[in-house]
Amino acid sequence: MPGKLLVFEGVEGCGKSTQLKRLHAALPQSDRLHQLQRRGFVPQILTTREPGGTELGAGLRQLLLSDRGGAPMVSRAELLLYAADRAQHVEEVIKPALARGCWVLCDRYTDSTVAYQGYGRGIDLDLIDQLNQVATGGLVPDLTLWLSLDVATGLARTRQRGVADRMEQADLAFHQRVQRGFETLAMQHPERIVAIDAAAAIETVAAEIFAVVEDYLQQWYAPSLTA
Ligand code: TMP
Repeated sequence: MPGKLLVFEGVEGCGKSTQLKRLHAALPQSDRLHQLQRRGFVPQILTTREPGGTELGAGLRQLLLSDRGGAPMVSRAELLLYAADRAQHVEEVIKPALARGCWVLCDRYTDSTVAYQGYGRGIDLDLIDQLNQVATGGLVPDLTLWLSLDVATGLARTRQRGVADRMEQADLAFHQRVQRGFETLAMQHPERIVAIDAAAAIETVAAEIFAVVEDYLQQWYAPSLTA
């Protein structure tokens, strides 16, 4: 049976990494999963992230997020580094996992490039779509959970965590443009992007995400579940 790619997206401090871990921990209790297992399909669940889901990507993540001093990174270099990370990640990790029937939970993917480098940095959106196409070979998420949160609230959360990375250091207007990017993407792709209210308590958000994923699993595997 085919694997599935589930992606978590959102602005800084929206809680996506926490929620990804929560979903990973909760999925073994899924009724849909149990039904599939009874029919002999035992999908592995894999968690990964962009940037940094491969050994090459770990180095690229370091380059992208650390503030190295010296001349600032230009936007096109930033775009290409994210694309390089993704190309390696898709080929080395995501595609083989999907071919094995895994459920891949990925922290950020192509929508982040549209939101951050497109809306945030102002790079041409068609160029970004082309580059995403090159990096992914056309691999689109089966479901994108967009954790929607007010930008100022998210940034305040990240500041509590300590030193801001290179992207978090960008000004509020940048992060507000990023947010507009995610809002626009959600309107353009209602078939795969589900908005989750990330302002709620962690437990509430986790429960909502679990319910959404159960619904999607039902849709994806309905013939196998009723067979
Ligand atoms: P995070 O994994 O902690 O969310 O950090 C990744 C940072 O990289 C975050 O600021 C968003 C940014 N980013 C982009 O700007 N473009 C991209 O394509 C991706 C995947 C992430």
